Amino acid sequence: RNHALETETSLPETSGSRFVRACLRLPVDRTPVWFLRQAGRYMPEYMAVRKHHSLLDICRTPEIASEVTITAAERLGVDAAIIFADLLLPFTPMGLDFEFVNGEGPVVNTPVRSLEHVQALRTDRTDDLRYVASAIEKVAKHFNAPRPDGDTLGIIGFCGAPFTLASYMIEGGSSRNYVETKKIMYSHDATWALLMEKLVTVLVAYAEQQVEAGADVIQIFDSWAGALSVSDYRQYCLAPTTELVRRVKALGVPVIYFGVDTASLLPTMRETTADVLGLDWRIPLDEGWRAAGAGCAVQGNLDPITLFAPEDVLRDRVQEVLNLANGRPGHIFNLGHGIVPGTPVDNVIRVVEWVKEYGVIKPHA
Ligand code: CP3
Repeated sequence: RNHALETETSLPETSGSRFVRACLRLPVDRTPVWFLRQAGRYMPEYMAVRKHHSLLDICRTPEIASEVTITAAERLGVDAAIIFADLLLPFTPMGLDFEFVNGEGPVVNTPVRSLEHVQALRTDRTDDLRYVASAIEKVAKHFNAPRPDGDTLGIIGFCGAPFTLASYMIEGGSSRNYVETKKIMYSHDATWALLMEKLVTVLVAYAEQQVEAGADVIQIFDSWAGALSVSDYRQYCLAPTTELVRRVKALGVPVIYFGVDTASLLPTMRETTADVLGLDWRIPLDEGWRAAGAGCAVQGNLDPITLFAPEDVLRDRVQEVLNLANGRPGHIFNLGHGIVPGTPVDNVIRVVEWVKEYGVIKPHA
């Protein structure tokens, strides 16, 4: 399933799924589409499973995680399936306990605030995360055969980026101003550097397990990078993130690098050498693509809340995104951030149908 090494040099004109091909800006028959958080609380099938299992139970049980992943992808008719897991799972083998508190999101019981605590974080137990690879194996096996349209579904593995994961470790949960994170970043160089280094070590090993298990692409979530100025991103985050991107690409898969509120960061994010940049909805897609650069593919960028709009408004917005992409190879249709609870499933399915209808890649492009 591991097409990328071949593709970077000599992918035959017609091989590879349209999702993987689009990541590498190769011509495709139509724009591929999938959604951030496509398996989640908006979907009754997920809520039915969730009724009997906690979020972490689902993540840690390959039979259930794979089923949730497959069900969402098939229900929506999308071109890629993202493995059901969570950004914070690597904290456990690093020795950091956390839980999901209903309605509040993740809570880290003892946030990381000192050099001694960073020194105590372990990087040698990543094998404990193999349950994610097992779930990917099951998903890959399920989607092994081509679909009726001849395309195989892309399988996406993922991990967090060093900054976003560090922010959860240091703040102890979600944050508005990232005060504790930035205090360490600005004032304690050695602590920050060691934390970045340890995270990269763990994340590379984790991504490698996922690729060996059958992930075609790895998405790196730097969801909160938009909290950083360009100079702070460059000074404190670019090097470790680039190290992570390079080492994941060396596994032979394309890398999608995603963040929110990143309009001003895009040219610097591109310096990580990620193959694809995720765009949020605040920037028009063509402007975002220009900022990312012509040598880069883009993923996005419908506002997830337009999924609550009436049909004509929603269709208009979908067409706007496709028009701004203008049929250039290297666009993957997605939202600018995840689907939120309460989103009507039928509207999500409608969007998939419209992308299939209107998302034609121009032969000249
Ligand atoms: O289809 C999918 O994308 C689902 C798989 C998935 C989950 N988390 C499961 C989940 C993915 C890709 C993630 C990534 C993730 N986790 C991110 C990055 C993506 C992003 O939105 O920017 C982040 C920041 C986290 C950390 C996290 N997990 C938060 C902040 C929360 C609470 C916020 C919320 O939506 O309630 C979670 C919980 C979580 N992870 C849920 C799901 C489906 C919802 C809670 C539940 O089912 O109990």
